[in-house]
Amino acid sequence: MNELDSLVASAQQQFAQAATPAELENAKAQFLGKSGRVTELMKGMAQLSVEEKKSRGAAINVAKQAIEAALTARRQALADAELQAQLKAEALDVSLPGRQRGQGGLHPVSLTLERIERIFGSMGFDVAQGPEIESDWFNFTALNTPEDHPARSMHDTFYVEGGTPEAPNLLRTHTSPMQVRFAVQHVKKYRALLDAGQAMPEIRVIAPGRTYRVDSDATHSPMFHQCEGLWIGENVSFKDLKVVFTDFCKTFFEQDDLVLRFRPSFFPFTEPSAEIDIQFQTGPLAGRWLEVAGSGQVHPNVVRNMGLDPEKYIGFAFGMGPDRLTMLRYGVNDLRLFFDGDIRFLSQFRS
Ligand code: PHE
Repeated sequence: MNELDSLVASAQQQFAQAATPAELENAKAQFLGKSGRVTELMKGMAQLSVEEKKSRGAAINVAKQAIEAALTARRQALADAELQAQLKAEALDVSLPGRQRGQGGLHPVSLTLERIERIFGSMGFDVAQGPEIESDWFNFTALNTPEDHPARSMHDTFYVEGGTPEAPNLLRTHTSPMQVRFAVQHVKKYRALLDAGQAMPEIRVIAPGRTYRVDSDATHSPMFHQCEGLWIGENVSFKDLKVVFTDFCKTFFEQDDLVLRFRPSFFPFTEPSAEIDIQFQTGPLAGRWLEVAGSGQVHPNVVRNMGLDPEKYIGFAFGMGPDRLTMLRYGVNDLRLFFDGDIRFLSQFRS
């Protein structure tokens, strides 16, 4: 290999070793710069004859062009590599799933309440709402609950500081205060009719909502839901309660062979009173009696507190637990799951 060929080879090698554009420019200076090796060779021609200059000059030019070509190629390669690195760093993976907005849904207990309202709505029941901070009067006294009734004890009831028995002073322990609240409003609305000795439209209402008791375990939460039902008219009997509630349960659980049991019980505000148990004929709970509601014929003292004559008006009331109904419908065995707010649990309920 002659001197010029090895110069070209050396330039190619050094350019190839340059890892960055700055290193490449340094390497270039060694060959093509003002005092670079090619420039030195050109200067060295000064003493040559004209003939020698021609051939030597041409040979040096060929070498110079080869070095320039190698430089250009390396510049391009480095620029390409830089571009590739940048593209890689800023890469957009279009195959990744997009970021979506989570789809919200109703809470399972809300789904149950909607379902209860729809079913009773189809049977001509109104839906009423009342206060969660209630007075002693509506929560107990108006409901024929004597002063010494255990439900009044501090153990069961959350009392509100600063309240008095006349003003709201406790968190309602059930939705039953809505019986008298709603009936009083209803009676007021139809006062003129009643005063004229005419028939008042029947009271047919459900009142779903939150209720509170000092109680907490797998099946009791200090805050829970109830749904009250009340039907008062001139000729409403226990038979109607059975028909309405049986119809409700079969529709709610979508099971026609569901069996109901009205088990004698006691509530101060109903007489007679009954706990309502249901029994599934199929599924994991088949054969067991499951309590779902308290009920009974509204006590004459309560009818009186509604502003009605118990000799003329009669009817029934029931109070059920939507949380319990939700657990039974979906097969959930720990009530606390409903109130933990864990999205992994809640998102399993869509309808
Ligand atoms: N309020 C009662 C309870 O909480 C249930 C009930 C409602 C019973 C209406 C009879 C009539 O247990």
